[in-house]
Amino acid sequence: MQYTWNDIEQHIAVCTQCPLGQTRNLPVMGRGSRQAEIMLIAEAPGGQEDQQGIPFVGRSGEVLDRLLQDCGLRREEIYITNIIKCHPPGNRDPKEEEKEACFPYLKYETYLLKPRIIVCLGRVAAQRIISPDYKITRQHGTWVCRKNCVLTAVYHPSAILRDPPKYEEAKRDFCEIVRKRDELCR
Ligand code: URA
Repeated sequence: MQYTWNDIEQHIAVCTQCPLGQTRNLPVMGRGSRQAEIMLIAEAPGGQEDQQGIPFVGRSGEVLDRLLQDCGLRREEIYITNIIKCHPPGNRDPKEEEKEACFPYLKYETYLLKPRIIVCLGRVAAQRIISPDYKITRQHGTWVCRKNCVLTAVYHPSAILRDPPKYEEAKRDFCEIVRKRDELCR
């Protein structure tokens, strides 16, 4: 079966595949350009995102926008999504069963987008997408090649809010991502 963006959106809107379907306010589907070469994958929507149904609209979103702007990227030219589409109560890490239940949505988003570059935001996403033993502090900014794309991870914006000196490292990583995009796609 060949799903379309609309199909995925409609499934996510009414999803009850895991208990978060009962506690969320709004599910948060990925946003951005559906022609993007760069796909950002974070872990789970926060409280603000749960209220608005849009990824990265809270304080972490402000940090993300600053990083993008500092490297000459605009939200409209990338695609941003999360491993799980519903807010975990109390902002806890997503549970294994929640990640598994939601993973098909991410697979379809990736299949439809066909990004050349996947950027994991933070440890949780990097460990699910790149490798279970991924060490974000040691490995952020390094590249892994998969069949049709290259992958990397950067600090999650909320980690930067807790530890502001991480901003400069994340900025360097993002600027390198732009350079890689230009090398691969321009
Ligand atoms: N943190 C995330 O991991 N995802 C969002 O969409 C917002 C904050």
